[in-house]
Amino acid sequence: MKDEGHGESEKRIFRITLRIVFFYILIAGGWIFFSDTLIEHLAKSPEQLSRFQTYKGLLFVIVSGILLFFYIYGELKGRSIIEKRYENEVRLNYERMAKTLDSAIRSISKILETKDPYTQGHQERVTLLAVAIAGKMGLSEDETECLRISSMIHDIGKISLPSDLLTKPGDLSELEYRMIQTHPKMGKDIVDEIDFPCPVAEIISQHHERMDGSGYPYGLKGEKIHLCSRIIAVADVVETMSSNRPYRAAVGLDEALEAISKDSERLFDPHVVEACIDVFREDGFSFGDNT
Ligand SMILES: [Fe+2]
Repeated sequence: MKDEGHGESEKRIFRITLRIVFFYILIAGGWIFFSDTLIEHLAKSPEQLSRFQTYKGLLFVIVSGILLFFYIYGELKGRSIIEKRYENEVRLNYERMAKTLDSAIRSISKILETKDPYTQGHQERVTLLAVAIAGKMGLSEDETECLRISSMIHDIGKISLPSDLLTKPGDLSELEYRMIQTHPKMGKDIVDEIDFPCPVAEIISQHHERMDGSGYPYGLKGEKIHLCSRIIAVADVVETMSSNRPYRAAVGLDEALEAISKDSERLFDPHVVEACIDVFREDGFSFGDNT
């Protein structure tokens, strides 16, 4: 498609150039032929003939210049209208694709919630907080969009786990805990084939990594962990601790913020922790009525 468009545009440039050259040859040839015949009749002396030749030449330059101006101006104006129309079409297509991608992400997110209703809305609330933290940290529009997509489906790997395990109240056995720990890697495998505009699979796979390397599945340390994963990690813990679950009451927002402060640097990126606390304390962030 791209090559076809490029070929079309080259053909169009060739046609315009050909038209200009043809137009020029026609005017110049006609002018030379008729004006020479005319001034030969009008000139009464060789000096007058030479003066007429000079005027004729100057007149030709002026008239052909003006005509060429209007011709090229008209062509370029028409071209710019076509280009603007094309740009609008490209923008509309992009917006349509972005909407489709957004709906697909929401659908993927909902799939997990049907399997694990106890965490319904968790990914959405984590996303709200993560994006607010990103705003506080001054992340670019593209980075924030990448973070938003990744947060919306960060736990998608849990879809591969049995519902009983996901909703099990109380403590988990070592084997069960190990099974839960596979979800970041499973999430990566699930979305790996989707051509996201940023490393969503990598971010999802690292959202349980911790700054001191004690996280899973890779045991990555510090800035080796993707910034978006470091933000999701903090938002995830705060949302989980401050939300009610059918099998336990919410620990509370104050305790959640205290917990991330206590483990700032050791487990969580201190810049992210600071931004998260500011988002609540300074900006009055709230998860809404769902907690
Ligand atoms: Fe998770």
